[in-house]
Amino acid sequence: MNNKTINCKINGANFQFNASPAMPLSDALRALGFLSIKQGCCVGECGACTVLIDGTAIDSCLYLAIWAQGKVIRTVEGEGVKGKPSSLQQAFAESGAVQCGFCTPGFIMAATALLAKPRSQPMTVLQIRQGLAGNLCRCTGYQMVVDAVQKCEIEKP
Ligand code: FES
Ligand code: FES
Repeated sequence: MNNKTINCKINGANFQFNASPAMPLSDALRALGFLSIKQGCCVGECGACTVLIDGTAIDSCLYLAIWAQGKVIRTVEGEGVKGKPSSLQQAFAESGAVQCGFCTPGFIMAATALLAKPRSQPMTVLQIRQGLAGNLCRCTGYQMVVDAVQKCEIEKP
């Protein structure tokens, strides 16, 4: 089957690439140099490949690259400003939520989407845990990740 030419925005810049009909977006992003996209399971179980697509956290291993036509994609490479980490990235570092780091890009993107949801009160620990249930970590035991997200939630303007 024929490849398609895909135009999309990634981290604020325009990109064009060719994708075969069955290529996962995670493969396409890694081929473009976005190596924060980790391929832990490639079947939607671990969340290590999470990116934001039009603001929604998506497992990019389950999302076809051809569906990215016209989409706005964010990866962890685009987080932070002028080389400085975002407040969430900083909170991850300060809370000890980054250990081997394999899961971290996916967690950052999933937590970014979670924190962006409008709500009248800060999330409870249970809500944070449920919100990040699609992301697995073998190192931290999750509490440090929850601490980092909670820190940002409390410090939200
Ligand atoms: S690599 Fe996509 S969910 Fe595990
Ligand atoms: S920090 Fe190692 S898997 Fe999460």
